Amino acid sequence: MVAKGKEKSVFFCQECGYESAKWLGKCPGCGNWNTFVEETVSKQKNETVRLLPSSEPISLEHISHDDLLRIDTGIEEFNRVLGGGMVPGALMLLAGDPGIGKSTLTMQLAGTIHLDGTILYVSGEESSQQLKMRAQRLSVKNSQLFILTENNLSVIEKQIQKLKPKLLILDSIQTVYMPEISSAPGSVSQLRECTGRILQWAKGLEISIVVVGHVTKDGSVAGPRVLEHMVDTVLFFEGERHNHFRILRALKNRFGSTNEIGVFEMQEHGLQEISNPSEIFLSERPQGSVGSVVVPCMEGSRPVLVELQALVAASPYGQPRRMTNGADFNRTAMLLAVLEKKMRLPLGNQDIFLNVVGGLKIDEPAIDLGIIVALVSSMQNRQIKDDVIILGEVGLTGEVRTISFLEKRLIEAEKMGFQTAIVPKGNLKREQQYPLNVQGVRNVSEALQLILGGA
Ligand code: TYD
Ligand code: MG
Repeated sequence: MVAKGKEKSVFFCQECGYESAKWLGKCPGCGNWNTFVEETVSKQKNETVRLLPSSEPISLEHISHDDLLRIDTGIEEFNRVLGGGMVPGALMLLAGDPGIGKSTLTMQLAGTIHLDGTILYVSGEESSQQLKMRAQRLSVKNSQLFILTENNLSVIEKQIQKLKPKLLILDSIQTVYMPEISSAPGSVSQLRECTGRILQWAKGLEISIVVVGHVTKDGSVAGPRVLEHMVDTVLFFEGERHNHFRILRALKNRFGSTNEIGVFEMQEHGLQEISNPSEIFLSERPQGSVGSVVVPCMEGSRPVLVELQALVAASPYGQPRRMTNGADFNRTAMLLAVLEKKMRLPLGNQDIFLNVVGGLKIDEPAIDLGIIVALVSSMQNRQIKDDVIILGEVGLTGEVRTISFLEKRLIEAEKMGFQTAIVPKGNLKREQQYPLNVQGVRNVSEALQLILGGA
């Protein structure tokens, strides 16, 4: 036990984990305002249990590694995202919005994983009855699966030493605490210390560990960025509230690439794998439609394909209506002005509606060209091919400007079954191989010529 009176008070930025002895208005670490919260931390390091063997330098040649040693999770889509299966001793963070299906996914994982050893499922959020009910609903039967409902990390540690599991699932990191630290579960110091301890379990005892984490409103993992730095793999589980599709993707992966995605559908009896996602996503779109384009957008550092729809129709009223849903209103007004002035399209007497399908909100300029093409397609009732994606920022003179992360977006589009990409000419490099048929355009007029045969 740690002696009392050895505690000091420290201020932590709740965004990035920056530590300061004084309260600060602006965080020098991440630049955010009003993010500092006072927490008490123990000065004395907790030495109760040493899990890692005392370290000695080892010659690189003598370190054994087995490349093929991957655990089959029994879920193909999960394996793919992890880079071919789970690595023993890996610490994985599974993050996502509340209710998206993290607990469902981890429970299914506990049922399907091909593991020679026990699995410990620790829940700090639900009772064992609730977990049993979910397991029944998902038809999870595994005599090697043990359930522990506990929030105290020291108690969990004792159980781990007793049970010696090969896989540990911890739902969630925000609900566990170390009793030596007096701040509340979910605070920066708790998250940091708990993750540090869990990391020791993973590496010292060679347990694969999946830790569930909640995300904040802006979509980042709640708590300091250090959490993401400490773990081997950061997985995001995401989807829209109104549809049943769920996407699992790796934001960081020390054992594989971060380009792979896993697609699931939430059904009555759990998550069903979707092995051909492009088909599903395309089937959501009306075929041969007018006024609809697909644009790969970046959500943080992740590409997401979104459908933009435009409806342009002669206004029966004196004052034509303009409405955008999911796209920036002022930006759209600017693009309309470009169309009027540069392409001489009479839009002044038209009602204009623009919608980003699925309730997403996109605020990056890379969708400009997509918006323009959708608008002209609708206005002139001209079809856009179904397998085309459109990318580019549009400037006031109608020029198409370069965008960031072209490769990532193209890879995502290719994965979703698209064949052709209309992109800014400035983005294209000679000699470079692209995953799909890429055509560069310099201005709006060239783009419209290419896609619709002119404005
Ligand atoms: P859950 O895994 O509890 O989400 P999280 O842990 O991310 O908060 O799943 C929540 C939703 O999933 C819940 O609204 C019910 C739905 N669900 C199904 O549709 N089918 C199922 O088989 C299960 C277990 C859940
Ligand atoms: Mg849950």
